[in-house]
Amino acid sequence: MPVYNEKVMDHFMNPRNVGEIADADGVGEVGNPVCGDMMTFYIKVKDDRLEDVKFKTFGCGAAIAVSSMVSEMAKGKTLEEAKKITPRAVADQLEGLPKQKFHCSNLGAQALKKAINNYQSQKKTGGKKK
Ligand code: FES
Repeated sequence: MPVYNEKVMDHFMNPRNVGEIADADGVGEVGNPVCGDMMTFYIKVKDDRLEDVKFKTFGCGAAIAVSSMVSEMAKGKTLEEAKKITPRAVADQLEGLPKQKFHCSNLGAQALKKAINNYQSQKKTGGKKK
């Protein structure tokens, strides 16, 4: 097992915002075919801001810590701000990830973006009542 720092271990052992939002405004699911890890993000949007963010992750310790950190970073942000969360910013907030685990932070940033895009595309097509 790679060596994780304390911050990563904390988010891995006590992940924040785990779960599902039943009436989510947007859902984003990504997987990495190489390691087989999967992440799903659920968002609730109000006045163009992320009112709530939850996730379900089946993956390595870093993937869980990343999901937890992304959810904390994203909550309260506007959609545009949240879309700008980069894998590097997530890894920095976690005070670093082992090199071979950096792709896990990619997955987190992607899953969040996908959930936001999902919400925005539904809005455009009027697919969901709000
Ligand atoms: Fe692939 Fe962590 S090992 S997401």
